[in-house]
Amino acid sequence: MSAHKIALLEGDGIGPEIMTEAVKILNLVAERNDINFDLIYAPFGASAYFSHGHSFPDETKKICDEADAILKGPIGLNHEDSKKIPIDMQPERGALLPLRRRYNTFANFRPVFLPKGLAHFSPLKPEIIGEGIDLIIIRELVGGLYFGAKETGINEDGKRYVSESLEYDEDQIKRIARVAFDTARKRKKVLHNIHKSNVLKSSVLWNEVITEVGSDYPEIEVVNILVDAAATYLCLNPAQFDVMVMDNMFGDILSDQGGGILGSLGLMPSACIGPKKAYYEPSHGSAPDIAGKGIANPYSMIGSVAMMLEMSFGMEEEAKNVWHAMQSVFAQGYSTPDLSSPDSDLNLISTEGFGDLVVSELKKA
Ligand code: NAD
Ligand code: IPM
Ligand code: MN
Repeated sequence: MSAHKIALLEGDGIGPEIMTEAVKILNLVAERNDINFDLIYAPFGASAYFSHGHSFPDETKKICDEADAILKGPIGLNHEDSKKIPIDMQPERGALLPLRRRYNTFANFRPVFLPKGLAHFSPLKPEIIGEGIDLIIIRELVGGLYFGAKETGINEDGKRYVSESLEYDEDQIKRIARVAFDTARKRKKVLHNIHKSNVLKSSVLWNEVITEVGSDYPEIEVVNILVDAAATYLCLNPAQFDVMVMDNMFGDILSDQGGGILGSLGLMPSACIGPKKAYYEPSHGSAPDIAGKGIANPYSMIGSVAMMLEMSFGMEEEAKNVWHAMQSVFAQGYSTPDLSSPDSDLNLISTEGFGDLVVSELKKA
């Protein structure tokens, strides 16, 4: 029997609720494939700060170091509660960015997918959606503004000031470019490069390197689009996109817009891949506004499991089965409240209800 160690970081807010449903899927997949998934829970996020004095405790680092893959729930508190934790210990700076840095998870895959049959979830008009939404955002995850030098202080005029720099070297751009071109090669052979080279010098270098790497991929068409225009096109004509590549900050913002055009951030899973280790997490946050109510959409977390099955464990068939199971639950008219509007006749279900229905669908595969 093969075995895989998976570190489970439940995180904050809705994290534990959606993790519970993801674990049901992992258990079923393990059972029927005669695999042992060794699931090891570890404290992470604001909850870990309050219980262990650090949002990324040493014991969690060790568990993650030893794991074959990491499944992570969202972390973070609402604006007011965040202030209860010193700035550098807040889970975004104190846990999430250190996790990304520790495993150098530079390639962040954020699929934005809605089949035509579920177009009613989207706020976009049917004529804009056409055959459905199917694109993937590839976001550089360990460079740029997020990880550049930062300084705060008082300047010569006695004013408080802040400076943070956007840094990339050509190797960092090259490796994400390769991931993007390789992904485009497996899909429609078009790569949209999202940049801001009319202002940012970082984008000038970014574009140069994209062009250089592109010479190894003559069959891929590269389309360069300024990030502000790309935001509009995502709403007006998302069908023009297939694979989009961009830096860390642009990827953060446009991927949430991706959730917006689908109808909910609850439909946004992701994979964060490094040279030796990968972790998987929903693209969204801890949703403090709905935490504890049992109504969060666990699709993002279960989709992250599907990405883990495929990308860390080579279980492509089971990954497909998981996607199909979730979509067929929706296709039967069930939905968590985030995807419903007052005039829709959807059958509203809880977080747990969705997880259980996915399990029964998956058992049919
Ligand atoms: P958010 O993504 O938590 O929530 C935005 C909106 O989307 C809310 O209305 C929320 O209810 C809804 N939503 C998100 N996920 C959902 C789901 N699965 N099902 C149903 N509805 C869902 O963004 P925010 O409120 O700006 O941030 C809250 C906290 O999360 C902050 O502390 C932020 O730093 C953190 N955060 C963490 C991550 C991460 O861990 N990767 C990502 C983004 C934000
Ligand atoms: C995301 C989140 C994180 C980011 C935050 C919580 C640091 O918004 O994963 O998209 O900005 O990368
Ligand atoms: Mn984000």
